[in-house]
Amino acid sequence: MAVAGICNCLGKIVPPSFLAFLLCCGLAFGQIRYSIPEELDNGAIVGDIVQDLGLDIRKLSSRKIKVTADDGKRYVDVNPKNGKLFVNERIDRETLCDVSSCILNLEVLLENPSELHNIEVEIVDANDNAPQFPRDDYQLEITESASPGSRFPIEHAQDPDVGTNTVRFYRLSTNEHFALDSNKPFKNKHVELVLKNNLDREIEGEFSLILTAVDGGNPPRSGTVVIQVLVQDVNDNAPIFSQSLYRTQLFENSAPGTTVIKITATDLDEGANGQITYYINHLSDNTNNLFQIDENNGEISVTGQLDHESASSYEIEIQAEDGGGQTGHCKVLIELADVNDNAPVIMVKSLTNPIPENIAVGSEVAILNVKDQDSGENSRVSCSVPINLPFKLQRSIKNYFTLVTITLLDREQIAEYNITITATDGGTPTLFSTTTLNIHVGDINDNSPVFGQHVYGAYVVENNKPGTSICSVSASDPDWRQNGTVMYSLVSSEVNSVPVSSFISINADTGVIHAVRSFDFEQFRKFKVQVVARDNGSPPLSSNVTVNVFITDENDNSPQILYPAPEGKTLMTEMVPKASLSGSLVSKVIAVDADSGQNAWLSYQIVKSTDPGLFSIGLHNGEIRALRDITESDSIKQNLIISVKDNGQPPLSATCSVYLLISDNLAEVPEFKDMTYEESNSKLTSYLIIALVSVSTFFLTFIILILAVRFCHRRKPRLLFDGAVAIPSAYLPPNYAEVEGAGTLCSSYNYDTYLTTGSRTSDFKFVSSYNDNTLPADGSLKTNRDDSNMTSLSDAGEILEVRFFL
Ligand SMILES: *[C@@H]1O[C@H](CO)[C@@H](O)[C@H](O)[C@H]1NC(C)=O
Ligand SMILES: *[C@@H]1O[C@H](CO)[C@@H](O)[C@H](O)[C@H]1NC(C)=O
Ligand SMILES: *[C@@H]1O[C@H](CO)[C@@H](O)[C@H](O)[C@H]1NC(C)=O
Repeated sequence: MAVAGICNCLGKIVPPSFLAFLLCCGLAFGQIRYSIPEELDNGAIVGDIVQDLGLDIRKLSSRKIKVTADDGKRYVDVNPKNGKLFVNERIDRETLCDVSSCILNLEVLLENPSELHNIEVEIVDANDNAPQFPRDDYQLEITESASPGSRFPIEHAQDPDVGTNTVRFYRLSTNEHFALDSNKPFKNKHVELVLKNNLDREIEGEFSLILTAVDGGNPPRSGTVVIQVLVQDVNDNAPIFSQSLYRTQLFENSAPGTTVIKITATDLDEGANGQITYYINHLSDNTNNLFQIDENNGEISVTGQLDHESASSYEIEIQAEDGGGQTGHCKVLIELADVNDNAPVIMVKSLTNPIPENIAVGSEVAILNVKDQDSGENSRVSCSVPINLPFKLQRSIKNYFTLVTITLLDREQIAEYNITITATDGGTPTLFSTTTLNIHVGDINDNSPVFGQHVYGAYVVENNKPGTSICSVSASDPDWRQNGTVMYSLVSSEVNSVPVSSFISINADTGVIHAVRSFDFEQFRKFKVQVVARDNGSPPLSSNVTVNVFITDENDNSPQILYPAPEGKTLMTEMVPKASLSGSLVSKVIAVDADSGQNAWLSYQIVKSTDPGLFSIGLHNGEIRALRDITESDSIKQNLIISVKDNGQPPLSATCSVYLLISDNLAEVPEFKDMTYEESNSKLTSYLIIALVSVSTFFLTFIILILAVRFCHRRKPRLLFDGAVAIPSAYLPPNYAEVEGAGTLCSSYNYDTYLTTGSRTSDFKFVSSYNDNTLPADGSLKTNRDDSNMTSLSDAGEILEVRFFL
């Protein structure tokens, strides 16, 4: 029965062979053994002890059957009425036992008589537990450099169930990187994940796997764990620039601090491995101190002074380095754009200085080179000179300019030029520079000496001391130094067949003319000499001028009385008719003076007379006239002492005596006898007087006639002329000419003055100024001279003067 019961109990769970084994055991030890699955409901029948022990059920109540366990726990109890074992408390095999077989040892105690039976209740496992991993999730940190085949143990799952109910296999969620070493569980052994292929954090840095443990129960239970795979970075990526060459443009005047370009490299690695630091590889020195890169953000900026002219572009190599030492490179090409920051520079390549003043028009004076360091339009240079200069600039090859003359030069006008050359470039705004060439014009002996006057006049008073300077000529020559140094000399000529050099000499340096000898006005009054002024050039240039030397009169001659003859030689007596009326001309004194002008202008005076009231003498004409009618009572003999005085300073004079005989007949004169021998002489004298009177009268008439004609034609008579005519016999004061403004002393000297004498025909001279070419110096007045001619002469400022003396 018991065995059958056991068999019944186990029949469902265990295979027949195992059951057989249990029966054998039970029989061998005489023990009752029950087998129940765990987790039965309370009250579930475990077995029938009465039957299995062969007890009498009727006596059962008296025997007080009891079941006790070793540990006192009453998982299974017995029904005392029918002796059946039942489940008293939930039995969990996994809490009850920690081993694979789980047996509850019970003792069945009976009284009357006491009996003790051992009963084994085997708790058979039920798949009531799922496999369970020790942790809900794992974090698996694997470097990405892990090689395929690497193993990563994971703690196995545990299933408190036993037998087939424990973990039977593992399953891994589908993934491309990992596989399970084997899905068979090994006792207390880790599950191992095997890396199938390379990990790449940069592609998948983190993923999760699900590991499932499945038990062998029916139905199977499973437990899972999430394995978080963290791929740890390995510095397997170098920084990479987006371009291998960056190009950028920058103005050369960019100030330090200007950002040029920002470049970025990427590094797929993380953390320090992806931390990029930028450096400039200063391959060549020319970028040193010009650019810098921000180590952290790759921004390149200017640090120095850029200059397109020293380098128009820069190539910078940039290195990016990550924290793991991996590097990447790129190049940055910075092109500098030109800015018009350079003014043109003018260089004088050749310069002719001084230039001769006779330089031909179009001659090259200087060659200039103009450079502008900028490029393009900024370096297109134009050059100019001020337009008011006799120079211009011509462009020759490339940046060369030549300065050429465009007109003839004259050193005597402009001896030096400051030529400011301006060079301008084509930039905006334009820059320019200037250079001043100081060009001197060299002298050429191209100017002859020029005299200050066309003609020189020298006035020498006669009786001069030899050696006195009489005049000075001067010529100027604007040429330079010896080309302008003037030397004076006389042109040899003759005056009255005497070489002129014996009259005057000239100081070669100063041009002062000296008289060599004393002159005599009465010998000659003027002469001409040519003076040459010659410069010192080679060949020399010269010019000449005429010097008129005028010798002026000095009162060195006393009046000379021609009539009556001087006392002592002959005794001349004039006959005066007794019946002479008042005013009748009785005689005339004739005197001359070798001097001229004032010095020869004579005045007559009676200094002593027998009868002072009877005769008078014309102050200027020397005519002796009766003052009153002559009477019988007057003495027959009358003596007059006449003084003739010139007008010089001091005046010189001469005296003479005039003997007059008042008689109609020589016989009446008592002393006639004494005088008869003189008759012929006296007769001659009378004739002379008569002739003189008639000539004078005629001449006076003639003058009056001329003047009358002139006055008739003149509406507006000239004061000067009038004055001269209105007082024909008046003496003109010595400074007359000066008063008129005819100028200079020389002008007054220019008048010839003539003394008319009774013995000659009276002259009437028209005298013009020396310089007057329109009137001949000796040209006598013509009666038919018309008025308009006169006026024009007056308008021309010529001084016309009429003087006459009787
Ligand atoms: C030219 O320049 C020089 C020096 O500056 C100066 O002495 C001279 O007077 C100038 N000449 C002229 C003609 O301007
Ligand atoms: C004078 O002129 C000549 C040419 O006529 C010239 O050769 C010379 O240099 C000049 N002298 C001076 C001092 O300028
Ligand atoms: C004086 O100059 C004139 C022209 O100005 C010339 O014809 C003459 O030959 C010169 N005479 C002398 C002596 O140089």
